[in-house]
Amino acid sequence: MASISHGVAANLSSLKGGDFLSSSDFTSEQIYALFELAKQLKQGDRRIDLGNRVLGLIFTKASTRTRVSFQVAMARLGGQIVDLNPNVTQLGRGEPLQDTARVLSRFCDALAVRTFEQKELEDYADWASIPVINALTDLEHPCQALADYFTIKESFGNLSGLTLAYVGDGNNVANSLMICGSLLGVNVRIAAPSGFEPLPEIVSKARSLATYGANVEISNNPQDAVIGASAIYTDVWASMGQEEEQSSRSKAFGGFCVDEVLLSLANPDAIVLHCLPAHRGEEISPEVMESESSRIFDQAENRLHLQQALLAALLGGV
Ligand code: CP
Ligand code: NVA
Repeated sequence: MASISHGVAANLSSLKGGDFLSSSDFTSEQIYALFELAKQLKQGDRRIDLGNRVLGLIFTKASTRTRVSFQVAMARLGGQIVDLNPNVTQLGRGEPLQDTARVLSRFCDALAVRTFEQKELEDYADWASIPVINALTDLEHPCQALADYFTIKESFGNLSGLTLAYVGDGNNVANSLMICGSLLGVNVRIAAPSGFEPLPEIVSKARSLATYGANVEISNNPQDAVIGASAIYTDVWASMGQEEEQSSRSKAFGGFCVDEVLLSLANPDAIVLHCLPAHRGEEISPEVMESESSRIFDQAENRLHLQQALLAALLGGV
């Protein structure tokens, strides 16, 4: 079994009992400590048994990766999940969140919440006495960003000074990528169609957290954004909850497909990332999806390792 340095252990311990609602909740040192633990877990160099802990999943939107990776992560930590889908709990019949959060805190050891409004997630955190994790809201997807930067680090060894170009909608995934990237010293360029740029307050927040001189640039030009980039990232044009905008967005996002021509403008060793699910032929071409530059399925796997490390730290198992 691999050991962990005193500094890494101290940063992991500092996360015990806390929430993870935004990529801005952790320092770069805490994130790098999670990367170190996740690497050991992934390589099989470390085993952590939390002893029968229970994670409640409150998901009001669909999920494959996040749901299954949390479930498998808890199983590997010797614990389990309970599915608290609002359709089968009293939440769906109007039981107030403040009562639900306090009752679940008596049964569970942590909650992972996937919902629409960030405010609802924050209300869970306010009323629960156990760690609350953002499993995706309309504003952020911080667990995704942890796995994404870990995947880039696996490819390049270090992160600071690299450039990530995100081509597409200025959405929840883009927001967490900006904040987390800035914290880790990665230059983040967002190229979105006019009217679909990220919220100015999130851009300002990301810039205010930058380390190692990282910068955040927003443009409407995918070609300019990818020149000199080590990673090209994209996500769906219409997120969950925006399905009725799918056809109008398809028109607005013309020219924002990550295809082989766009990829050829990036660094020769650039990697391609996508949080999935993907719409081939829209935000990404089938060729790029299956190309040698794609790390998309490593990225999906890394959700498991990062969330296992996160749960171990929040639940005090390290
Ligand atoms: N990337 C991601 O969060 O996927 P799911 O919606 O399947 O959980
Ligand atoms: N932006 C997408 C991400 C899905 C993982 C959505 O919110 O639907």
